[in-house]
Amino acid sequence: AIDISRLRQMTGMITLDSGFANTGSCKSAITFMDGERGILRYRGYPIEALAEHSSFREVAYLLINGELPNRKQITRFSVLLNDHSLVHEDMRSFFGSFPRASHPMGILSSMVNALKSFYPYLEGEEELNTTVARLISKVRTLAAMSYKIFRGHTVVYPRPDLSYCENFLNMMFDSPVRPYEIDPDVVQALSVFLILHADHEQNCSTSAVRLVGSGRVNLYAAISAGIAALWGPLHGGANQAVIEMLTNIVEKKIPLKDVLARAKDRNDPFRLMGFGHRVYKTYDPRTRIMKKMCDRLLTKLNIHDPLLEVAQALEEIAVKDSYFVDHNLYPNIDFYSGIVLRAIGIPTNMFTVMFAIGRLPGWIAQWKESMDDPEWRLNRPRQIYTGPTQREYVPLDER
Ligand code: ACO
Repeated sequence: AIDISRLRQMTGMITLDSGFANTGSCKSAITFMDGERGILRYRGYPIEALAEHSSFREVAYLLINGELPNRKQITRFSVLLNDHSLVHEDMRSFFGSFPRASHPMGILSSMVNALKSFYPYLEGEEELNTTVARLISKVRTLAAMSYKIFRGHTVVYPRPDLSYCENFLNMMFDSPVRPYEIDPDVVQALSVFLILHADHEQNCSTSAVRLVGSGRVNLYAAISAGIAALWGPLHGGANQAVIEMLTNIVEKKIPLKDVLARAKDRNDPFRLMGFGHRVYKTYDPRTRIMKKMCDRLLTKLNIHDPLLEVAQALEEIAVKDSYFVDHNLYPNIDFYSGIVLRAIGIPTNMFTVMFAIGRLPGWIAQWKESMDDPEWRLNRPRQIYTGPTQREYVPLDER
């Protein structure tokens, strides 16, 4: 057995694991993933059962509190979310200061960080529930507000009679000239989308939340860091990148075999977006659910999306291709999620924001777990130094 306290004192020994592919950064009881068998469970519950039977609110409660809520608990949680759904009116003026071309992820990350200046950061057991509810509820309001303000439209306020997902859709799409009709199938699709994104153990953005949080920064700042980390096209930004790739294929009529050839070419930085995963070496279990839901939703809404046809055709040839088979590359959650979001009416530049709304309970749960961990320490990785060992200082005029 290794004596950890002894190991901690051995400052000379450093392990190098680029990309942390085999390094455990923490112990966690939140999400179980088996990348070889394609299994994902939140707090022990299979993702398939949660996606079929639970609401996003229930899953958020489960991740953060460890148990599925009973009726009384979910009612209390829903009331708390409703009570904290409004955003301080002074924050509206911030939106007007961003240039028109700003990316919604940059805006969301800034606005979440700014929440700390408007709302007290409460740390006690009960008070923390208020901070958590504020975040979950206000992130959704901020996302919808940003959409409305950037279109030059009137902001729609949250309504206490609507559920979490209904409220988001209503804030996004209701307008005085065209009242939004809530379709239960669209609400269900959004709820499943958010559930499937709710946690995924120590991915890039969650690790960012834990690392930033380890300095004991306030929760708003840690979540803001998570949103920034999620933005990248190799992580959450892949859902936007997939749609851009599929649109390009359709518009330019690029033969699919050429797309695959580029993805396989080591001298070409192009990758098949929405394919591959650091942990899943088989089919991503979330993709199976998302793909089914995508088919169902488009049929129900009578939408014919050429991007879905291209995506299905690409998947069909890629999974038979020896390069993709040898590299264990299968479609990940992002491959079909953008098509679902398009059908709902979400603009492409907001896809990663939708991912962030979904991932929020996971980030909060992971942050909370790290704060409660008696073994938790400031995250401070080491490095293998490769620069010059020592050099004589040269004064400015002699260089
Ligand atoms: N297309 C073509 N080749 C790929 C792809 C892809 N999408 N993904 C990985 N590969 C190849 C790499 O070129 C590399 O090949 P080589 O060993 O012959 O040089 C090999 O597979 C391993 O690639 P890595 O980048 O080392 O694998 P890693 O586990 O670090 O990457 C990642 C995982 C980043 C997701 C990668 O598969 C990728 O870039 N996919 C496309 C972007 C994407 O869909 N991201 C979303 C991920 S899911 C999420 O975050 C929500």
